[in-house]
Amino acid sequence: MEEKLTKLKEELTSKLASATKEADILNIKSEYVGKKSEVSNILSSLKDMSIDDKKKYGSLINNTKKEMENLINNRLEELENKSNITFDDTLDFEVETGSLHPVTIIAHEITGILKRMGFTVVSGPEMETEYYNFEALNVPKDHPARDMQDTYFLDNGMLLRTQTSDNQIHAMENFGAPLRICAPGRVFRNEDLDANHENTFYQIEGMVIDKGVTIENLLYVMQNLLREIFHEDVKVRLRPGFFPFTEPSYEMDMSCLICGGKGCPTCKNSGWIEMVGSGMVHPNVLRAGGIDPEEYTGFAFGFGLTRLAMMKYKINDIRVLNSGDIRYLSEFNIK
Ligand code: DAH
Repeated sequence: MEEKLTKLKEELTSKLASATKEADILNIKSEYVGKKSEVSNILSSLKDMSIDDKKKYGSLINNTKKEMENLINNRLEELENKSNITFDDTLDFEVETGSLHPVTIIAHEITGILKRMGFTVVSGPEMETEYYNFEALNVPKDHPARDMQDTYFLDNGMLLRTQTSDNQIHAMENFGAPLRICAPGRVFRNEDLDANHENTFYQIEGMVIDKGVTIENLLYVMQNLLREIFHEDVKVRLRPGFFPFTEPSYEMDMSCLICGGKGCPTCKNSGWIEMVGSGMVHPNVLRAGGIDPEEYTGFAFGFGLTRLAMMKYKINDIRVLNSGDIRYLSEFNIK
């Protein structure tokens, strides 16, 4: 009897040592100390034994069973502690890494190019006063040009800026002349949404003020920017435009890269996408910024950053950019 019990205990000990999963240990438990286990059978056979044998073996059998139960519980505990610090490398899972948003990527790229041209990167508030968004930019109250940029007016009397051009005034006030700044940022308009229009999008403003700055300087900077971003000579066209804060004003269009200039919903079937407004800074704007227009001249431009991203990454619908659809955006996993 003693031998038998010792053997059972030894067997159990060695099985426990090689068991690494909780489920295996629970199986061993039912095999060795469960109702139908050998120890339990021996225990129930006690009642048929003689009084002498009962005395002789009773406590031995009971103790052995308790010892076996302890062995099992210890092993379970051991495993539980261990599982807190190790992990099961047989589990199959994928680690998903995030990525920068296409607009962020293009903003980094374009500010990098401008920095190499000597521009300082600044940023201004998205919640703006009418003064910085319109009046200081030569758009007085009730001027029809305000209709071009309807926006969201806030209860506190401020508005969500419609353009990054507000940075022109902040920068002139903060730094004076000469000046060379760029300002990427988010802007808002009360727009009807379609493939090319959103109520929330991004622009990058540029402004250079110095003595003797000319239109040629402006054209050079804009063309150079486009060339560096697209790594090729993209087809552009310059048109006269109207902006109250520049005189003369220009608009630069780029041949639509979605359809190769053939015409598609993104370019409203014209083959061209309006990319940038620009011009020579209006004397009233220089004055609003505290700079003497007799002494200094300047140019300014405002690129549609969102449109640049669409052209560069061939995104044919602006709405996906604000959609937060990771499946779509993760295609731009550029580190
Ligand atoms: N702020 C203008 C817009 O959102 C773009 C623009 C035009 C910016 C001319 C400029 C500029 O700096 O000189 O439509």
